[in-house]
Amino acid sequence: MALHRLQAVRLGVSDPVAQADFYGEMGLNTSDGSLFDSPDGGTQIHVSEAPFRRLLGVDLGVDTESDLNDISGRLTALGAPHTLASGTLTCVEPHTRIEFRIRPMSRLRQAPAVAEPYNSPGSSARVNRRSPGVFPGARSPRRLGHIVVATPAWRETRVYLLDGLGFKVSDEFTDIIAFLRCSSDHHNIALVGGEVPFLQHYSWECDDVDHVGHLATKLLSVDADRQTWGFGRHFIGSNFMWYLRDPSGSFVEFYSDMDRIDDDAEWDAVGRTPVGLENVGLAWGPNMPMEFIVPKDIDVLKAGWASQGS
Ligand SMILES: [Fe+2]
Repeated sequence: MALHRLQAVRLGVSDPVAQADFYGEMGLNTSDGSLFDSPDGGTQIHVSEAPFRRLLGVDLGVDTESDLNDISGRLTALGAPHTLASGTLTCVEPHTRIEFRIRPMSRLRQAPAVAEPYNSPGSSARVNRRSPGVFPGARSPRRLGHIVVATPAWRETRVYLLDGLGFKVSDEFTDIIAFLRCSSDHHNIALVGGEVPFLQHYSWECDDVDHVGHLATKLLSVDADRQTWGFGRHFIGSNFMWYLRDPSGSFVEFYSDMDRIDDDAEWDAVGRTPVGLENVGLAWGPNMPMEFIVPKDIDVLKAGWASQGS
């Protein structure tokens, strides 16, 4: 796979100061209040002021400049405008208006998480001491893992990402959701349908369930109304998940233990299972809230896009 990394997202929000405060609570580092770094992923969020919340751009990594030439050739075959200059390929997906910037960069390397000792029936991994998970320990998530994007043209955006940029399908439910990857993560971008484009959620990798729990609990202790969905476990991707709402109105997911795929044939043979309404969202946990499908600010988003001439 030429693509190997979801590096960063560029977000337009109406209140960059509130957004920066939220990322500070998450533990992301910033030196200027507009660029935010995770410990493993480097600079992962660019925030700028916008009249309504938008996903302005997505930065992706490839290995070499020749990978950019391959993507350029595929976009040309699709009739998709793009530029390739100074080692960066830039293109705009026409239905979501997301600007993709793709350039060569190093592959993601992460130090392994220290596994907590878990007791279970017949196995005493931890005796005579409390679990480390009960002690205060909220800390930054490790890195941005994936985004979910609403598009008014699900099939066309899917083709653009697959046949143009080179994403792969891990799982999909036609016209409902496509889970696409540009790395061994089960998904780095998922596509859902929407009346107008918006960032449905963006998701951060944590070490384990306690890391997820500590981080979500810390953010909820500041504002309990941030609670959106969770704690639970997805069926698709298998990951533990907990969703909160950020100040702009986009959902933020903290997750751990997502499926990884490095062999399509093996995934097809023993990993992939049928996807339907009964399992597309959840293995276990609270029911999906309605705002997860139709966000509460949809009228604001529609008015914003109408003002842009969409
Ligand atoms: Fe997610």
